[in-house]
Amino acid sequence: MTDGREKMNIQWFPGHMTRAQRMIEDNLKLVDAVCEILDARIPLASRNPDIDRLAGDKPRLVILNRCDLADPEATAKWRRFYQERGIAVLETDAKSGKGVNGFIPAVRELLKDKLESYAAKGQVGRPLRVMILGIPNVGKSTLINKVAGRKAAIAGDKPGVTRGRQWISIDAGLDLLDTPGILWPKFDSQEVGELLAITNAIKSDVLDRETLSANFMLRLREHYPDALRERYKIEPDPDLNGFELLEQAAKKRLVSKGEYDIERMANTLLKEYHEGKLGRLTLEMPDDRAVDTGK
Ligand code: G4P
Repeated sequence: MTDGREKMNIQWFPGHMTRAQRMIEDNLKLVDAVCEILDARIPLASRNPDIDRLAGDKPRLVILNRCDLADPEATAKWRRFYQERGIAVLETDAKSGKGVNGFIPAVRELLKDKLESYAAKGQVGRPLRVMILGIPNVGKSTLINKVAGRKAAIAGDKPGVTRGRQWISIDAGLDLLDTPGILWPKFDSQEVGELLAITNAIKSDVLDRETLSANFMLRLREHYPDALRERYKIEPDPDLNGFELLEQAAKKRLVSKGEYDIERMANTLLKEYHEGKLGRLTLEMPDDRAVDTGK
């Protein structure tokens, strides 16, 4: 964790998540492969840490979505990270559709043994079945809609809201099992919570946005100081704490009648990151935390 960050109390709704977890276990036998949609800016924190245990030996595809908002060099590192663990990787920007046309070929490649065995048995056209997993707001509906080429799943910006499971048939011999967006039940890390909150996966009204934003300032100072210089015209002074950095930015950006507004600055920082206005910034790297993917 970055030194100097304030402690935060981040909570969400464990009931939903436990139910969703159970649903994955119950439905895994219905699918040939598991596809996890991750936020390319937080490719670990946006991942269900139980997925390796849950998915067992099923072939796996990781989609690094929102790659339009992520640092391309970091995305390349994450691609290698997952590939080295035997997991196929696809980079997408579901909003614009970039990379999405690689989805069907990636699934067919992942399951080529299965396709060959279907062909050998004369089961031509038997669809491949893929479970789609992803935390709320990661872009799951948007991606599925783009793959399906029609309004198949309902997109919306409502972190924490779950939907029932549904099968979506794609023309090219592919059935997708859409699952409710889930966050995991064993949540005890402030690091993960902050990353999810900064990237809008957790409802913003369950936490203190000013502290979140102050802590985010410290991350930016450490990893992307130029973003602070360029966007907010402030020097990433190592002697300041996160609130003081917010204050500096507010003094540059949000002064009205000689007064500046730190609370508004906190919201502006989070909003502008969300909109990509600070640049393409990835918030965790493969070597940041010890990772056991079980592969
Ligand atoms: P979900 O099903 O996983 O809950 O997510 P959903 O598809 O509803 O997407 C949540 C928001 O994220 C949508 O925006 C969507 O347009 C956006 N989004 C999805 N994929 C990408 C991507 O690759 N890049 C970018 N930049 N955005 C993406 P929204 O509801 O309009 O809200 P907003 O987040 O744009 O404000």
